[in-house]
Amino acid sequence: MSLIEVKHLYKQYDVAKRQEGMWGAVRSLFHREYLSKMAVQDISFTIKAGEVVGYIGPNGAGKSTTIKMLTGILVPTSGDILINGIVPYKERQKNARQIGVVFGQRTQLWWDLPAIESFELLKQVFQIPQQRYRKNMDTFAEILGLGEFMQTPVRQLSLGQRMRADIAASLLHDPSILFLDEPTIGLDVVAKERMRTFIKEINQERGVTVILTTHDMSDIEKLCRRMILIDKGQVMYDGELAKIKEKFGQHRLLIIDLEGEESGFSMAGAEVIREEGNRKWLRFNRRQISASQLINQISERYEIKDLAISDPEIDEMIRQIYEKGIDQIV
Ligand SMILES: Nc1ncnc2c1ncn2[C@@H]1O[C@H](COP(=O)(O)OP(=O)(O)O)[C@@H](O)[C@H]1O
Ligand SMILES: [Mg+2]
Repeated sequence: MSLIEVKHLYKQYDVAKRQEGMWGAVRSLFHREYLSKMAVQDISFTIKAGEVVGYIGPNGAGKSTTIKMLTGILVPTSGDILINGIVPYKERQKNARQIGVVFGQRTQLWWDLPAIESFELLKQVFQIPQQRYRKNMDTFAEILGLGEFMQTPVRQLSLGQRMRADIAASLLHDPSILFLDEPTIGLDVVAKERMRTFIKEINQERGVTVILTTHDMSDIEKLCRRMILIDKGQVMYDGELAKIKEKFGQHRLLIIDLEGEESGFSMAGAEVIREEGNRKWLRFNRRQISASQLINQISERYEIKDLAISDPEIDEMIRQIYEKGIDQIV
């Protein structure tokens, strides 16, 4: 049995429609109209113990809605979820003992209290044995560098500090599954890197299964072998990141600076995907034309001042999947 099983999951939000003006307000007392939004439509997947899975999608794709159902905060409209044999919304307390949750957008710590007091409260709530608590606190304080701001009210912490405190709090009771909803959102490069390293360690050293949502593809590259790509509440792709990379890997990007501006630049065997003055971005399939062939071809007609060749960016790959559909690509 898989650790997490999701079958034909749906979630519909019904939002009361606001009626215009005084009369509208009165009318809506008697007759309320609803706008419904299907945020998650027929999503299925399974996750095995020890995996780190990236749950990716643009804003509004349904990532947070899914996480909220997995953690038991929201009740599905239909479909089934089993987390280690538990139906989250039916046994929310029991589920809470086996999972940790961090919402990047919102802290779970008491806003006005120093982080240390939230930790102490969680210790009570989850009845964490003193020794275990000490050990976890020491470990987290060291890796996450919590010591320096443990006594500061949460409201005064920087976003990066707050996120570190939040993730420590989510792991105090030794959950076997960790849900992270946009854990690096708003963080600077250094703080992001620190967060990623920590997530990796938690997975490798404690065997914690991690599901993280993000729209930052570098999170995925650093952390996940598998990704579930969603859009408009539906799964677009579920599989290895490497497989997508391999498919796209046939493509290369040649960036050239020409001597003098050239408008209407074009070249057989390559697609000009961007132009800025005398700088051109050319995409080519390396199975059809080699970089040196292409460069030779260009230099026969133009004077090249500088050039660089790069792999396509992961962001670009994902954008194309959303545009063209996975079938066109993988
Ligand atoms: N409480 C809510 N009431 C009504 N609609 C909602 C609510 N929460 C989210 N939605 C809508 O459901 C869709 C999915 O939202 P969400 O799961 O938050 O997406 P994501 O986390 O991928 O950005 C969006 O269209 C959003 O506007
Ligand atoms: Mg979200």
